[in-house]
Amino acid sequence: MPLVTTKEMFKKAYEGGYAIGAFNVNNMEMIQAIVEAANECRSPVILQVSAGARKYANPVYLRHLVLAAAETTDIPIAMHLDHGADFEICKDCIDLGFNSVMIDASSKPWEENIALTRKVVEYAHAHGVVVEAELGKLAGIEDDVNVEAKDAMFTSPDEVEEFTARTGIDSLAIAIGTSHGAYKFKPGQDPKLRIDILEEIGRRLPGFPIVLHGASSVPQDQVAIVNAFGGSMPNAIGIPESELRKAAALAVCKINIDSDLRVAFTAAIRKHFAENPSHFDPRQYLGDARANMKAIVKHKIVDVLGSANKA
Ligand code: G3H
Ligand code: 13P
Ligand code: ZN
Repeated sequence: MPLVTTKEMFKKAYEGGYAIGAFNVNNMEMIQAIVEAANECRSPVILQVSAGARKYANPVYLRHLVLAAAETTDIPIAMHLDHGADFEICKDCIDLGFNSVMIDASSKPWEENIALTRKVVEYAHAHGVVVEAELGKLAGIEDDVNVEAKDAMFTSPDEVEEFTARTGIDSLAIAIGTSHGAYKFKPGQDPKLRIDILEEIGRRLPGFPIVLHGASSVPQDQVAIVNAFGGSMPNAIGIPESELRKAAALAVCKINIDSDLRVAFTAAIRKHFAENPSHFDPRQYLGDARANMKAIVKHKIVDVLGSANKA
């Protein structure tokens, strides 16, 4: 089945009170793990490619791997550029056949963010591609960041109507307490999302799809496997899955997950070598990594995103 635009996926997700998982991909095994999981759960899915993935794998390879995955299943699959840094990267991906791009100008001043985002939207829409942009700053909640500074990083509901109207974007990534990476919060911290901000944004933009980045939960059982087999990941916690469920039931239609998949992939490889020190065939350890990652993706689809049986 050809790639499917997120427009229809998000409309159904918004109305149905669930979210679509946007999982980062870097190689064939990761793409297979995600697509097999989504297929078995009958869930739509977004495969997203970061700048790091482009550099590691070459976007042409990733595009063909994604197309191969789409050819082997009938579930809706979208291919998205994650955190596009400038117009040229977005244009390259659109020209290559991605059907969704993110322009991330959230660190730029207000007018610059609007102008750059608008420019990408004009090019993308002319090519039938949808655009995600971001307002607000994602960051870990550090002990030494005071309440005022923390509040300043969250997306301001007062800005979202003007931003979406002036840019013409199709979805908006917001900052309500999520954070990138596997080391988000220290144990004992309370990483609750600002659901009140999400609700207010939902009131200002009725029916408009909202995106959450940095939504990994850092599964402690997987971290424990990494550390039991020679790893030394710090003791850290992520976003509680119960918080993500609440967000998915509201205006959030796309939830980005990368770190949890990396941890699962690595945990399986460490365990494999600890238990099979003589193995040297990559298909053996990458096969375990793929299976473990697939199990995590299924769990996210069924228990967190709520997108099972929505394909
Ligand atoms: O938000 C960023 C993603 O986790 C991708 O990370 O640039 O290391 O591929 P990366
Ligand atoms: P995590 O690091 O929490 O998985 O976030 C991934 C992400 O936001 C990709 O854009
Ligand atoms: Zn992100």
